[in-house]
Amino acid sequence: MEIRNIDETDTEQVADLFAACFSAEPWNEPWTSAAAHSRIAPMIRSETCRGAVAIHEHKIVGMAFGQVEGWINGNLFLLQEMCVMPNSQRTGLGKMLLDFLIEEVADRDNIIAIYLLTNRDVPAASFYSKHHFAASPKKIVMGASVRSILNAKSA
Ligand SMILES: CC(C)(COP(=O)(O)OP(=O)(O)OC[C@H]1O[C@@H](n2cnc3c(N)ncnc32)[C@H](O)[C@@H]1OP(=O)(O)O)[C@@H](O)C(=O)NCCC(=O)NCCS
Repeated sequence: MEIRNIDETDTEQVADLFAACFSAEPWNEPWTSAAAHSRIAPMIRSETCRGAVAIHEHKIVGMAFGQVEGWINGNLFLLQEMCVMPNSQRTGLGKMLLDFLIEEVADRDNIIAIYLLTNRDVPAASFYSKHHFAASPKKIVMGASVRSILNAKSA
């Protein structure tokens, strides 16, 4: 198993991996490779993108990436996407990817904190808890459907 930095030439394979992982349990989201590609390609292309991929027999079987964001006394890192091929999960790959990425950005980008979004009721939450992440007591994530906003305006 090799872990290395992500680069733009990984985009197709990372999109396929993303679609496979999030179409499976526990997410069961109906991703196609094309939809995954349109989400992921601009993120990987960004000059602030940092990430890691895990390679097994010339195939990408795991990835983690996100963006460096400026902050006051250093930078933040938003971990945007992370997944491991379903048949390789719980074998320590997630830990290897996260360790590699954190070491890389901590040194190179003066990152003082890392944050991410995930669902409360998925195994990923316990994975991140194991690695020192905790739900913020202060911040909340807020969202609205565009339809509900437009409907309220026209009412
Ligand atoms: C979350 C994820 C990236 C972790 O990678 P991984 O290679 O499975 O993680 P590791 O093998 O390093 O660590 C395993 C630990 O993570 C947690 N975990 C991961 N998958 C789990 C599952 N299906 N059920 C229960 N716990 C799970 C457990 O704490 C587990 O420890 P244990 O096996 O000793 O119980 C991977 O499971 C995954 O891709 N999940 C689907 C996509 C996803 O949820 N991505 C994150 C969205 S924000």
